[in-house]
Amino acid sequence: MISRFSLTTCNSGICPVFSSREVPGWRMANNVFGRTNVKNTRLQIRPYQTGVIDLWRACNLIVPWNNPVSDIERKLQVNPELFLVGLLAGKIVATVFGGYDGHRGWINYLAVYPDHQRQGFGRQIVAVVEDKLRAMGCPKINLQVRESNTGVISFYKAVGYTDDAVISLGKRLVDDPEYDA
Ligand SMILES: CC(C)(COP(=O)(O)OP(=O)(O)OC[C@H]1O[C@@H](n2cnc3c(N)ncnc32)[C@H](O)[C@@H]1OP(=O)(O)O)[C@@H](O)C(=O)NCCC(=O)NCCS
Repeated sequence: MISRFSLTTCNSGICPVFSSREVPGWRMANNVFGRTNVKNTRLQIRPYQTGVIDLWRACNLIVPWNNPVSDIERKLQVNPELFLVGLLAGKIVATVFGGYDGHRGWINYLAVYPDHQRQGFGRQIVAVVEDKLRAMGCPKINLQVRESNTGVISFYKAVGYTDDAVISLGKRLVDDPEYDA
């Protein structure tokens, strides 16, 4: 059962944490929220590189009905510039897999290695893909959260997403080859 919650960016189209003119990072967040614990380690955010599947596995994002190898191959054919990795000392610690269908932007495969979470890296990589989508003319981002993963909703709300109150439906067109996780 893959009933999902659906979240979207705020209606203004401007994330309350970062404007499109801000370099994504923690200084802005500190200004807005008056934080004292500055988390300003910056990810190097780059186009896709090999080595993301271990991260997705560590974050429980690999499910039997989605073959990650097939997903990567397909993504490299459509908006590959929105498939980003976040590097620390040359090692992939974060990913995001953006898309734009001409009406809505989408975010998938957002992940930060568990031992690097809560350091602002998810916020940084989301802000970069949002800026890229905004530059493409995308007015709104949608995303889906598995029912089994509702804990992540606090993150999305913290970076400006709200509940769209929609029912998400899907129809499989191609069965992926089985992936041996
Ligand atoms: C979602 C995810 C990418 C967030 O990455 P992260 O680097 O930990 O997020 P950040 O450190 O940028 O968090 C920003 C803010 O979001 C909120 N937040 C993040 N994780 C949270 C959690 N588990 N519980 C409550 N709030 C959370 C906090 O407000 C946080 O700020 P704070 O740490 O100063 O309080 C990461 O938890 C992850 O990889 N999860 C597993 C994969 C997954 O579920 N992906 C989404 C699929 S839809």
